[in-house]
Amino acid sequence: MDAAALLRQGGLVAFPTETVYGLGADAGNPAAVARIFDAKRRPPDHPVIVHVLDIAAALRWSSTFPPAARALAEAFWPGPLTLIVPRAHHVHDIVTGSQSSVGLRAPSHPVARALLTEFGGGIAAPSANRFGHVSPTTAEHVAEDLDVAVDLILDGGACAIGIESTIVAFTSELPMLLRPGGISVDAIAAVLGSAPGAADATAPRASGSLASHYATHTPAQLVASDALRAELMQLEDRDERVAVLARVAERPDDFDGVWTVAPHEPRDYARLLYANLRALDHADADAILIEQVPDDDAWAAIRDRLARATAGVDDDRD
Ligand code: TXA
Ligand code: MG
Repeated sequence: MDAAALLRQGGLVAFPTETVYGLGADAGNPAAVARIFDAKRRPPDHPVIVHVLDIAAALRWSSTFPPAARALAEAFWPGPLTLIVPRAHHVHDIVTGSQSSVGLRAPSHPVARALLTEFGGGIAAPSANRFGHVSPTTAEHVAEDLDVAVDLILDGGACAIGIESTIVAFTSELPMLLRPGGISVDAIAAVLGSAPGAADATAPRASGSLASHYATHTPAQLVASDALRAELMQLEDRDERVAVLARVAERPDDFDGVWTVAPHEPRDYARLLYANLRALDHADADAILIEQVPDDDAWAAIRDRLARATAGVDDDRD
């Protein structure tokens, strides 16, 4: 059976987007959306993004679409941007986490667009990973996490952007950044005239903003470039096997663990980030060390993911 027919019957279809793979269900079918939560083992009150083809389709899911949100959609859709806007009356609570807003995104990946066209409705889809785990950027990653829980996995190759969409909320007077992502804050500020504010207490809940998320099973920690060598020696002294995601640091001659060199450029780094984290997780190490990345805006979304991927580890483990 084809993917759109599966969606119409309440099935779960994993599909590629330009950011990460999504786990899709018919957004108009609450029972189908409920299956997403079971498959991911995600808490039921977390909202999911509704994927749409374009602005016209987005308007069917919102009650108001503020001009500033529209300006961003016109500038960046289809693409890695999610807009949180007041929901239309008919949108199911399981999609919105019972909040008064809905998250909308028009993806640019040709397979996602073909699926949306063929299906005709909105597709509710979080990232196609187990809740809290590293997001999937290949069909193999999806199978690794969700295999039997999914009716079909569409294979569209490796995702070009590799980290999730930027999320901007239009639920209070000023736009708020809920998650940095595929579109930089500078690019958004250029359209809005000023940068979106930081999420505050009035911001709608977003699970991507939990302190620990995108995590490997092997405990991972972030280390400054100049502290990497000392940290490595300390762990090896304790006979811990270490896997490293380096960037500019050089591999010490006497290090015999797994040493992966990540790309220097932020776009390439982001594209490979989740595949690198999954590979390091498979290295059978006791600890993963990740070399800290630069401090500027181009790296903001990557810093956010690295901070959350490493949030479960106490820095003072000795
Ligand atoms: O790039 C992406 O956005 C990917 C691809 C598949 O589109 N999707 C994705 O979905 O990252 P997910 O569920 O893993 O992360 C979406 C985030 C979650 O933190 C969720 O809480 C938040 O968006 N979100 C969705 N709807 C929301 C709403 N109405 N209000 C606040 N946050 C919302
Ligand atoms: Mg996710």
